[in-house]
Amino acid sequence: MTAVLEIKDLHVSVEGKEILKGVDLTIRQGEVHALMGPNGSGKSTMAYAIAGHPHYEVTGGDILFNGESILDLEPDERAKLGIFLAFQYPVAIPGVSFANFLRAAVSNVRGYKERAREQAAKSGDGKVIGSELMPMREFRKELMAKMDRFHVDRSFANRYLNEGFSGGEKKRGEVLQMAMLEPKIAILDESDSGLDIDALRVVADGINKLVADGMGALLITHYQRILNYVKPDKVSVFYDGRIVLTGGPEVAHMLEEKGYKWVEEDLAKELAAA
Ligand SMILES: Nc1ncnc2c1ncn2[C@@H]1O[C@H](COP(=O)(O)OP(=O)(O)OP(=O)(O)O)[C@@H](O)[C@H]1O
Ligand SMILES: [Mg+2]
Repeated sequence: MTAVLEIKDLHVSVEGKEILKGVDLTIRQGEVHALMGPNGSGKSTMAYAIAGHPHYEVTGGDILFNGESILDLEPDERAKLGIFLAFQYPVAIPGVSFANFLRAAVSNVRGYKERAREQAAKSGDGKVIGSELMPMREFRKELMAKMDRFHVDRSFANRYLNEGFSGGEKKRGEVLQMAMLEPKIAILDESDSGLDIDALRVVADGINKLVADGMGALLITHYQRILNYVKPDKVSVFYDGRIVLTGGPEVAHMLEEKGYKWVEEDLAKELAAA
């Protein structure tokens, strides 16, 4: 079955202020949907709301995964369904290696934790036997294979998560996270920002491989550039908390050329006509 994430008339407030004013958007597995829009229009707010960040209050509308609302689910439960968010500003966690972070995340998403706890509950004394984590050897093997396939340097595994990572290294790290977590739908918030040409190609190549494997991607970006490497099925324009236009790759080219001024003018005309 092809997984579908549907956002329906979504309204979201942050600290009492309405940021999203009725967003409609559908993302399917195996599709690339690019989302562009000016600074502060609410793109990251939408990404956080989908991931279930507690700061972002859904005041109307719905988010459905395969037809069922996910609004009552915790962020880790949404991750288990196969929804992944690559943050615009990933946090650093000193003292936690990239490998250990990934092992914990993969174990959660693949249900190792749950199974260990279920067994413990059944065993009577409630003691957790065995590991809540994916077995180390199996994990290392998969990690090494995926680092090679996605052109991530093997030294990444032992470095502390995002600490001292350059902008480009962080974005490569995100691709590796997706490769390990195998999400059905991934939201990439400006995964192309600050990348040099080579890093852009590596990140784009990684996204393409994952999409070919069946991942659906919502690509939030300011630049047409990455879309030369990752071909979008659809391009939507976000403006003032709403999607105002959806089309094909030509939309990205038009934005590059004309900026966002025309959106404002069109909206003013529409309002005047109404
Ligand atoms: N945690 C927060 N606290 C206060 N205001 C917030 C918070 N998150 C978002 N906002 C506000 O919501 C609006 C939309 O922000 P958002 O980050 O979603 O925009 P964006 O489209 O991702 O912009 P950019 O292209 O610059 O990344 C902004 O006015 C921002 O200040
Ligand atoms: Mg943003």
